Amino acid sequence: MRVAMVCLGNICRSPMAAAVARAQVDEAGLGGHVSVESFGTAGYHRGEKADPRAAAALRRRGMSADDHRARQITVRDLEQLDMVLCADRNNLSELRRLDPLSVGKIELLRTYDPDSSPGNEEVPDPYYGDDSDFDHALDLIEAACRGLVERLALAGR
Ligand code: 4NP
Repeated sequence: MRVAMVCLGNICRSPMAAAVARAQVDEAGLGGHVSVESFGTAGYHRGEKADPRAAAALRRRGMSADDHRARQITVRDLEQLDMVLCADRNNLSELRRLDPLSVGKIELLRTYDPDSSPGNEEVPDPYYGDDSDFDHALDLIEAACRGLVERLALAGR
């Protein structure tokens, strides 16, 4: 099962979401069944490491994005992935535009957060913010990934 986290630049939210999801997938014993990767809808940062503020926010919680290099998602990726979870509605519409045939597997990540509600299902972009915005994004990502991994565990039984 290939799961992808997607945001705009693939240097802030989606690398954080992939690190969190991988840690939770491993903790749930699903590491042999579920792989988690990340992409951006845009290519401006292709090949770059995670934003240093995202890397630092992960380190504060015992995780790392050291191996990350930014990638732009392609139609071929969308065809091959099983679940595509994106940070905000702009990402969602861009992905739907890119490959209308993959719409069934593209969702907002926060739909898996039991505390999200319709109209409040985005992970806000922390790129123009400060460390507290990165911490807040991580709080939302952690809650959503818990819901996601619970669902994956149930599906795998
Ligand atoms: P991300 O954040 O989509 O969470 O990786 C951003 C990264 C870069 C830019 C915008 C958002 N940018 O405009 O370069």
